[in-house]
Amino acid sequence: MGYKKWFAKHILREKWLFLRMLIFLMLFIGTVSFTPLLIGNIFDELAKPDRSFTIIIMTSLFIAIAGIGRTLGDYIQSYTNEVIAHKVTKNVTEEFYDDMLKKSQEFHDRVKIGDMMARATYDTRQMNIFIAPGLKFLFEAFFTVIFSVSLMIWISPKLTLLIAGALPFYIITIWDYNRRLRPISKAQMEQNSLLNVRLQESITGIRVVRAFVKEESEINQFDNETEKLREINTRRGIISARYYAIVITIFLIAISFFWGAYEVSQGNLSLGDLVTFVMLMMTLNMPTWQFGWTITQFQIGMAAAKRIHEMKEREEYVPNPDKPIDWVEKKGNIKFENVSFSFNGKSSRRMALKGIDFEVPEGANVAIIGNPGSGKSTLIKLLMRLYDPTDGTIHIDGINIKEMNLSNLRDNIGVIEQELFLFSKTIRDNIAYGKPDARQEEIETAAKLAQAHDFILFFEYGYDTIVGERGVTLSGGQKQRIAIARALLVNPAILVLDDASSAIDAETERKIQTAIANVLRNRTTFIITHRLATIKNADLIIVLRNGVLMDNGTHSELILRNIDYRRLFERFSELPPMIEMEGN
Ligand SMILES: Nc1ncnc2c1ncn2[C@@H]1O[C@H](COP(=O)(O)OP(=O)(O)OP(=O)(O)O)[C@@H](O)[C@H]1O
Ligand SMILES: [Mg+2]
Repeated sequence: MGYKKWFAKHILREKWLFLRMLIFLMLFIGTVSFTPLLIGNIFDELAKPDRSFTIIIMTSLFIAIAGIGRTLGDYIQSYTNEVIAHKVTKNVTEEFYDDMLKKSQEFHDRVKIGDMMARATYDTRQMNIFIAPGLKFLFEAFFTVIFSVSLMIWISPKLTLLIAGALPFYIITIWDYNRRLRPISKAQMEQNSLLNVRLQESITGIRVVRAFVKEESEINQFDNETEKLREINTRRGIISARYYAIVITIFLIAISFFWGAYEVSQGNLSLGDLVTFVMLMMTLNMPTWQFGWTITQFQIGMAAAKRIHEMKEREEYVPNPDKPIDWVEKKGNIKFENVSFSFNGKSSRRMALKGIDFEVPEGANVAIIGNPGSGKSTLIKLLMRLYDPTDGTIHIDGINIKEMNLSNLRDNIGVIEQELFLFSKTIRDNIAYGKPDARQEEIETAAKLAQAHDFILFFEYGYDTIVGERGVTLSGGQKQRIAIARALLVNPAILVLDDASSAIDAETERKIQTAIANVLRNRTTFIITHRLATIKNADLIIVLRNGVLMDNGTHSELILRNIDYRRLFERFSELPPMIEMEGN
């Protein structure tokens, strides 16, 4: 579906509201165009020698009633218009959010958060403005022209024809105005996105900025970008100010007076008719401005819709199979067969994993070791189907994970990631993230197993302590144990611990070791770690180097035959013996 169709679909969903808006718009415009007729009548009545004050009073009364109708019509149509805009924007934003959450990992690796945020906020706002007041303006302008011009023709076809001669000037003016504004609107949106990206990145990376004393240079860069946006906005302001359509209208009013006065003097037109005619001319003032404004905003709104739609449409879902197989008997037997993967697609020669083959029996504890960048984390991402292998297959309990129900798969693999993320919520909420209805006892049991219970209680608010921006800052080791508790609470069939933090004190090390031992019990586990105790006790050790599986086996096997593996332990045996210090 193209973006226009998509946008139209969203707007058409509110067709009943549109109908209401149109009905009250008619009331509004009808009364606006009708009032000059009534006023003209009063003038004509006054011009008669035998003028009737009853008629004048009655007509004035009608003017007042028309005034009420006009206010009511305007109020309801404007209000309805806002409701439509709000609903459409809400639906679009929700749909966008929904889509972003479903997008593949590849998509999120590539797209900048700031850019995504700009589309979800600024661009949806532009769509909103196009609908309210944009669409209202458009309809108002359109019907005002229809109503007023019809009445003008009815009063004096000749005068109307004279004025219609100005039509080409109008069209040229509006066309030229939009031609100059279009590129600016586009630039405005792009610059805004860029600014968002800059802002988001330097704030997220504030620690790096500080560490390298780059505040000044970041501020300067940001100033440059805002300056560019200011320039664009100024250019836009200048162009808007050079919108001459209204000048033409005023000019026409002058002409109508001049020519009309002549017609009146010739007896072709009554005084009341001239008054009505000129007043109708004046009602055309607003539309000339509204048309220009709406066409511009229409272009901005459409460009915004295009930007939102384009990001939505990038087909980068990890597809859920048509007939997904439910993984019912969860034993945790895992088989990688000739699995290769490149982050850059099939044609790339830079492979993160190459021809990986191994099998893990159910309930085994697997340790994955290898140099940085050897593909350890990638292996786990494939298992969770954050990415699909470029080649080869992965089976769990005999089911190809590509055929498995995606949420079923991910629900049953608990992952404690290398880059831990906790939400700015309470510790309880963070632990219970995967199981929001968990009871306090369950949460505490998980926390105890994860060796987190004690330090949690140490905080003033215990489990109600808020983490992150508005609350306490947790250390790496503390965060990790909360993440372990979070994974344990769900009690997944397969558990993965991508454990990067090796530089922690002995006490924390011991606690995490205990936590890990608790994790390992009764399920298939993968641990990516440098902790020798964990590696030694593993049922299977997978040794990766630069994306290739060098070897796999148990500690006693590998220590005899694998040089990479030996090296891991060598650095310990090379250490000089400790000198005993006594008597101080
Ligand atoms: N999102 C990504 N896009 C492109 N390349 C990536 C991406 N993530 C990782 N890589 C590349 O894939 C390779 C394997 O990365 P991976 O994160 O699996 O390494 P690792 O073994 O977990 O390393 P570490 O021990 O440092 O955590 C690396 O060369 C890395 O540059
Ligand atoms: Mg890693």
